Amino acid sequence: MKNSITMTDNRTDKSYDFDILNATRGPSVVDISTFYAKTGMFTYDNGFTSTASCKSEITFIDGEKGELRYRGIEIEELATKHTYLETCYLLLNSKLPNKTELKEFDLELRHRSLVHENLRHLFAAFPAGAHPMATLSAATAALSTFYYDHIEIANEDGYQEMARRIIAKIPTLAAFAFRHSIGAPFIHPDIDRSYTENFLYMIRAYPGGKMHRGVNGEHKIKEIEIKALDTIFTLHADHEQNASTTTVRGVASTGAHPYVAISSGISALWGRAHGGANESVIKQLEMIGSVDRVNEFIARAKDPNDDFRLMGFGHRVYKNFDPRAKILKGLQDQLKDELNLDSNLMEIAQKIEKIALNDEYFISRKLYPNIDFYSGVILTALQIPKSMFTPIFVIGRTVGWITQWIEFKKDKSMKIARPRQLYLGK
Ligand code: CMC
Repeated sequence: MKNSITMTDNRTDKSYDFDILNATRGPSVVDISTFYAKTGMFTYDNGFTSTASCKSEITFIDGEKGELRYRGIEIEELATKHTYLETCYLLLNSKLPNKTELKEFDLELRHRSLVHENLRHLFAAFPAGAHPMATLSAATAALSTFYYDHIEIANEDGYQEMARRIIAKIPTLAAFAFRHSIGAPFIHPDIDRSYTENFLYMIRAYPGGKMHRGVNGEHKIKEIEIKALDTIFTLHADHEQNASTTTVRGVASTGAHPYVAISSGISALWGRAHGGANESVIKQLEMIGSVDRVNEFIARAKDPNDDFRLMGFGHRVYKNFDPRAKILKGLQDQLKDELNLDSNLMEIAQKIEKIALNDEYFISRKLYPNIDFYSGVILTALQIPKSMFTPIFVIGRTVGWITQWIEFKKDKSMKIARPRQLYLGK
């Protein structure tokens, strides 16, 4: 039996053969790279709902089963038995680190977490109150001016150094972006703190490093807070060829600097349909305000004449459940007592979830709560302001973007991303 598919043009009865490429997991792929040459036509796939844009060995999603794996390891295992830094190492090196490798990786990231003072001054050019996503994207692009030689890298050591550098600096830039947005003095990373703890520290500390809160004196960052944020980073670390990753690969395909590609990914992530949904979820829950008003907004979400959508619901790939959402829901339950989760917001969220999961509109369209539906309530309990929800997604996802950038560069068969169109103009 031939491993191919035959398409017939019913206008002419001509048939064309296309090879089928087998996947190690998930659906096979039809190689249509010769489609235009053979048929003189393009294929049309609005939103790429049926298109594989690359070959990849990094992340696998089975949307029907609700399965997500990084380098073959299930997300549940990584989120419960490993740290975010181990996950970063896994994505970059295709294996989990041993103790020595982890220690070295951790130390190197701590050392690389400082940014050049001139880059700090860049923030002064931005208006007061600028959204941290805007300044974070700009600062990340500006990082390319300090490491311009990364544009030339073409060997494994160079790729790894470039990747570790951006992973280490992104939390610092995100924290600077936040502090600029509220007019607070910048806090530099503390080498004695772990990756995740350091980020909370740079958000919360006063100059000099203390974290006074109210009458109870100095506030220490709790282990449970670090663990919760670390899990959130792990759950966001990569997600196959989503919109921002596709953007990163598209920019990579032109030969642009890797940090400019990451900056483009940050911009793509900001939209409400993608990573920006986490900020929108909380704003929406606050707007709904009380459980009595949930039905009114469910009705609006179902109304075809109303643009209103339930933020944190639906996913292009997950059609059963989002495994990341399931893990966060469990985490939310665990943290309920220890972290003082906002009970009003949680009640509204629970009511939305209950109604939607039993409503024909949502069932027939396979709309389930996604990761963003649950992350906001947890981040709020960690005293992270709403404007920082999407930058937190950025911190978690940077390793995924850069790993995908490296994979793109190493694949000698990859071409510039240059789709065609169905022209309907004059
Ligand atoms: N609320 C109400 N209706 C919805 C929603 C929603 N959140 N999401 C999709 N629909 C409806 C949509 O109106 C359409 O209905 P119909 O067939 O009657 O026209 C149908 O479901 C299919 O929607 P679609 O927009 O064609 O689906 P898509 O796969 O192109 O979009 C999505 C996926 C995530 C952009 C969309 O579900 C959405 O806008 N959700 C809200 C935003 C959100 O939570 N985004 C975060 C995604 S997860 C984090 C990440 O990885 O980025």
